Amino acid sequence: MSVFITFEGGEGAGKTTVLQSVKEQLINQGYEVIATREPGGSVIAEKVRDVILNPDHTEMDERTEALLYAAARRQHLVETVTPKLDEGCIVLCDRFIDSSLVYQGVARGIGVEEVRQMNLFATGGLMPDLTCYVDIEPEVGLKRIEEHKGREYNRLDQEKIDFHLMVRDAYLTLAKQEPIRIQTIDGAQPLDEVVDRTMKVINHYLNKTNSR
Ligand code: TMP
Repeated sequence: MSVFITFEGGEGAGKTTVLQSVKEQLINQGYEVIATREPGGSVIAEKVRDVILNPDHTEMDERTEALLYAAARRQHLVETVTPKLDEGCIVLCDRFIDSSLVYQGVARGIGVEEVRQMNLFATGGLMPDLTCYVDIEPEVGLKRIEEHKGREYNRLDQEKIDFHLMVRDAYLTLAKQEPIRIQTIDGAQPLDEVVDRTMKVINHYLNKTNSR
């Protein structure tokens, strides 16, 4: 069964850790699963990621940034996501189009509709079947990052707290607009509970789809 599930969240929400646990549990349930990420997930797209997130690239224009994310998305989709969906896999993707709507559309101020249109060109209209949004207050998420210095530090981590507050607000707005596709999961709970809740949401979706 091919299903495209994306994971979204602000910095330090724990979505990447949750995604890995979800992957293991779904494999144990007998599904074919791959985990991938954006920007990245293919050789070319990982190179674009390095350009976008390089802390030295302080002069990067915001539209250039939006276009690079969309370019990386296109390449990742063509090389990785679509072939795996065609094979009947569950594809778990760490970030996708909603990240661009929120970060570039709202927080960078380009405008959600402009960024959406540009991304629809990149994706040919493919949208996730299900999106797990791991919600966390930015102060809590950023503190977690401080405490786990092992994590990659990138250009966007340097943004001020206001930027991260805008990101959270924008995610909550999107989740209100698309309450079926986007399921909000409380990321402030202990990790085991966040994983359990996410698995409930995913299994509910899979059972519903299986019984159709
Ligand atoms: P990560 O921390 O989840 O690896 O994501 C890297 C950063 O890239 C994160 O700060 C969010 C940002 N990002 C965007 O701004 N727009 C996008 O479309 C994507 C996929 C990520």
